[in-house]
Amino acid sequence: MVFLHSLGFLLAAVVHLSNGKVTVSTKAAQTMNGIGASGAWWPIDLFKYPESVRSHVADLLFSPNNLGLTSYRYNLGGGGVGVGNPSRAPETFYVSPGVYNWSADAAGVYFLKQAVQHKVPQLILFVNSAPAAFTTNNQTCAGGLLDAHIPDFAKYIADVVTHFKQQGVIFTHVSPINEPDYSMGTPGTPCGQEGMAVPPSQRAAIVVALRSALNKTNLQSVQITADETSRLEQFLSEAQTWLPSAASSVGAVCHHQYSFPNDALAAQMPATAKQYAPGKETWFTEICCFQAIDPTLQSTDPTAPQQFGGGFQPGMIGALKLGNVLRQSFAVVGDVHFDWWTALSDVMGCDPLADATCVTTDNTAGWNDGLLYYDPNFATNGNHALYSTKRFQLLRHFANFIRIGAKRFPVNNLPANVQGLAFKDSKGGSLILMNMSPNTIAVDLSGVTSLGKFTSAIQTTQSSDWTTIKKAVTSVPGLSITTILFQ
Ligand SMILES: *[C@@H]1O[C@H](CO)[C@@H](O)[C@H](O)[C@H]1NC(C)=O
Ligand SMILES: *[C@@H]1O[C@H](CO)[C@@H](O)[C@H](O)[C@H]1NC(C)=O
Ligand SMILES: *[C@@H]1O[C@H](CO)[C@@H](O)[C@H](O)[C@H]1NC(C)=O
Repeated sequence: MVFLHSLGFLLAAVVHLSNGKVTVSTKAAQTMNGIGASGAWWPIDLFKYPESVRSHVADLLFSPNNLGLTSYRYNLGGGGVGVGNPSRAPETFYVSPGVYNWSADAAGVYFLKQAVQHKVPQLILFVNSAPAAFTTNNQTCAGGLLDAHIPDFAKYIADVVTHFKQQGVIFTHVSPINEPDYSMGTPGTPCGQEGMAVPPSQRAAIVVALRSALNKTNLQSVQITADETSRLEQFLSEAQTWLPSAASSVGAVCHHQYSFPNDALAAQMPATAKQYAPGKETWFTEICCFQAIDPTLQSTDPTAPQQFGGGFQPGMIGALKLGNVLRQSFAVVGDVHFDWWTALSDVMGCDPLADATCVTTDNTAGWNDGLLYYDPNFATNGNHALYSTKRFQLLRHFANFIRIGAKRFPVNNLPANVQGLAFKDSKGGSLILMNMSPNTIAVDLSGVTSLGKFTSAIQTTQSSDWTTIKKAVTSVPGLSITTILFQ
């Protein structure tokens, strides 16, 4: 009897513990280090807009009242030699050895300086291709970097970083070989963008040469981020070739995730990074372009497996697909930093002047590559309007409430279809909840005590953006993101 009685008590205790009370671990995971997006290549187009629109774009991206990015990626252009699309062909400062044209790339520099004015704490300079003078084919795509020019390439980057430092633009990080796995073209055919193939065997030499060049110009504090290879599978198989000899010169080990791995595969990233570069942070530095509308992928389920491809999906489903990638990056891989690919895009796949509803409706002709969109025909029709997405609002939750230096705390016992991430720093705590289902789901947060005292919540749904909620959150609407704030 006594035995049966205690068994019953035990079962009751177990049932009680798992009775839908969300809990937050008191054991910290990683310390966060920036949320950003890239400045390629939209500045080339947006620089042609009226000044009022340009400064509004900067405010939307960088002001804490808006997206509040804590990191910004400036694309150091190679001159666009061989690139067929002028909107994706950034100018270069490079003229000849030691000679630079600082009037070049006024468009990119404008938005870079806007980031500085808005006090964005982290600025990353990234390179898709070296200037044509250093490449195998005298272009900035469809070729590679000549070994003999590695020191010249490194010195050129260090000179650019020094120039900007003198202008008050302090780059904190440099990425010399963005997506080294692909040259972005075939010789003889105009390329769609700049790119430079850098085989794994060449990568360490570039990283070490750049470290040495930065050191020589008193830029010891500037960290190198590498190798930004496109797919996790490539990182896992190639890391052993380049990372051991580069590790002491690398600040953060960076990956893109264009194969959209599942959690089990993504979980292999940290062990490989730790094996070859012990003690280094891992960063997730680029993603976009979730194939939007494919019946076999159940596109109405934000947690369904993703693959790379086209489709414009400006609503909550598209946003929560990004949310699922952020969850994987922070909670499964343990990345401390996350970058969306391009902040603005014109590939909306429809004509907003011909059909006003097109900017909020899914289509298969556009791309999920921007947070904000602009009219691809602006130059001829004069339409300077900007079009926002729910993806912008979702990233706004992350960028605003995951401050640099905040610690992440694992969240347990979440209801099915709700994803959660918790963070805390000296300014307070935040619990981000994403309801991936179309239905309202009850959440019991009475067990969340370690983040501080509830103050308010901010919520974005299909029908509302950034609504403040003053009373305790007991449920989350279908297809929503809610950030609960604590002090
Ligand atoms: C410098 O770049 C600007 C902007 O593209 C261009 O107009 C100018 O001709 C360039 N000067 C030199 C010396 O290349
Ligand atoms: C690239 O330009 C250099 C200098 O003009 C020249 O010597 C070299 O042959 C060119 N390379 C190719 C692949 O065209
Ligand atoms: C760069 O400077 C750091 C700090 O002084 C030093 O530890 C490192 O060995 C240097 N690296 C190279 C490649 O010169």
